[in-house]
Amino acid sequence: MYETVLFIHSYWAYLVLLILIIASVNSLVGYFTNKEYGAMNFRIALFTLIVSHIQLLIGFVLFFTAPYLKAFGEVGMGEVMRDPTLRLYIVEHPLMMIIAVALITIGYSKHKKKLTSTPKFKILAIFYTIALLVMLSRIPWNTWL
Ligand code: HEM
Repeated sequence: MYETVLFIHSYWAYLVLLILIIASVNSLVGYFTNKEYGAMNFRIALFTLIVSHIQLLIGFVLFFTAPYLKAFGEVGMGEVMRDPTLRLYIVEHPLMMIIAVALITIGYSKHKKKLTSTPKFKILAIFYTIALLVMLSRIPWNTWL
């Protein structure tokens, strides 16, 4: 179970980062070049929301099946916070990914309420780009790549 979930989580992460980079660049270009917001922009924003929420769910399943949680029970929070690997997998990575997906969700729902193109692109550019930076800051690069 754990290996399968880790495999899915690991490969789905490529899709999450790819679509979030596309959505972030698309909205920044749309905002700075005063583009007209259209169906394709909406689809990119929605697809990013869906793909990142799926990864969030897979992440929770992984969190509760990964061996790290047992380590947490054995060594306690103090030791977890002192150990960089345990701290990343048990605290920093889950927390920062939840914050990133929350930013994507807020950005998506706020941009839908805007009526014209520029404010729509602006909201998406701000929330999706910050979410991307938050995600990149706590990806376990050394085990992933
Ligand atoms: C939503 C955006 C997320 C992305 C892009 C993401 C990405 C990744 C990546 C690239 C890895 C490394 C996989 C590997 O070593 O091959 C990983 C590992 C992990 N992720 Fe996530 N993750 C996300 C959300 C979450 C969430 C919300 C949780 C928990 C609530 C979580 C829990 C974990 C755990 C426990 C591992 C370590 C698994 C292991 O090596 O045993 N992830 N994640």
